[in-house]
Amino acid sequence: MGVASKRIFVTGGTGYIGSHTCVELLGSGYDVTVFDNLSNSNPEVLHRIARITGKPFHFVEGDIRDKSALRQAMSYGSPEKIIHFAGLKAVGESVEHPLRYYDNNVAGSLCLLEVMNELGVRSLVFSSSATVYGASEELPYKETHRLAAMNPYGVTKLTVENILRDLCRSDTRWRAGILRYFNPVGAHASGLIGEDPRGVPNNLMPYIAQVAGARHDCLNVWGDDFPTEDGTGVRDYVHATDLAVGHVKALGHLDGDSSHDRCLAVNIGTGRGHSVMDMVRAFEAACGHTIAFKVGPRRDGDLPAYFADATLAQTLLDWQAERDLATMCRDT
Ligand code: NAD
Ligand code: UFG
Repeated sequence: MGVASKRIFVTGGTGYIGSHTCVELLGSGYDVTVFDNLSNSNPEVLHRIARITGKPFHFVEGDIRDKSALRQAMSYGSPEKIIHFAGLKAVGESVEHPLRYYDNNVAGSLCLLEVMNELGVRSLVFSSSATVYGASEELPYKETHRLAAMNPYGVTKLTVENILRDLCRSDTRWRAGILRYFNPVGAHASGLIGEDPRGVPNNLMPYIAQVAGARHDCLNVWGDDFPTEDGTGVRDYVHATDLAVGHVKALGHLDGDSSHDRCLAVNIGTGRGHSVMDMVRAFEAACGHTIAFKVGPRRDGDLPAYFADATLAQTLLDWQAERDLATMCRDT
């Protein structure tokens, strides 16, 4: 890989997954520029990334919907590739405030793609989600599954995926790596960066962590009457550092030339499902005390179970998850 291809522009790079990815990028010798409006992150993360890696990088505070800010920031480092994490990600909030989600996630991505096109930077890795598969009886989810997002957040992800597919079809200079994350959890092994949701967490792992840290009395288990082994919901949890490594591997694959390679969609999961109770037990083992829980009704829209078919990531990107549930809980 030449020197030029080592320059990467990361939108949303101070967020949960972005920060872990910056650590892996810097560790792999990339020159990194982070662009983030800090709407869901803390600038302290920048110091933490520098502390973990011991490497300098560039940060620009800005919004992806602001084309002139993007133009200026991108001109600075002359990046060859982009990793696009910036976006809003709360399903419930997207149902309440769809315009906010379409504006930030879809209009924001369009601004980014337009500026990339202007500047001749036509390679990116995009954060998509298993949510684009919608409800499906067939498990595991393969990349060829029918796509059917079920909420505004999911529709924004699917819309950007569709835009990228159209773009790559229309102009052979474009390269897109669409990574469909399953359930990212865990934190960097240093303990310096991790997931730090504002307010009461919606997601399971940060909620369990807050019960362990005595910020809540007990976990609400949303339903124990699903058709799963122990009745609780099953998901494919993947460590944030494994996910971050997946981005570095995907960047390396963006240089492919076949029509198949020009716009890839790849699942990023472990290929294994764990129930809510598996997560509680694993967290108890990691922190050495019990996690109180009570069973409540199912949460609206929750599927009983899903997990990835992760073989494409392995064959195409030479990536597979290496960190097990115990490590995910310990690092959290
Ligand atoms: P995060 O909220 O921690 O990170 C997103 C970052 O983007 C934040 O730092 C935020 O300040 C920034 N941002 C948001 N809107 C912006 C804008 N308009 N301009 C500039 N910066 C902006 O979220 P995350 O968990 O790190 O997720 C990263 C990406 O991965 C998101 O696109 C998300 O939808 C996707 N994703 C996340 C999950 C998950 O469970 N965490 C699962 C699947 C997909
Ligand atoms: N759960 C509880 N109690 C809680 C939180 C969650 O029992 O307090 C259960 C849920 O019912 C589900 C499992 O834990 O069975 C996982 O729930 P999360 O909220 O952690 O994750 P989801 O699978 O519902 O959703 C996540 C992301 C979405 C993304 C989706 C698909 O939050 O943004 O994965 O990738 F779309």
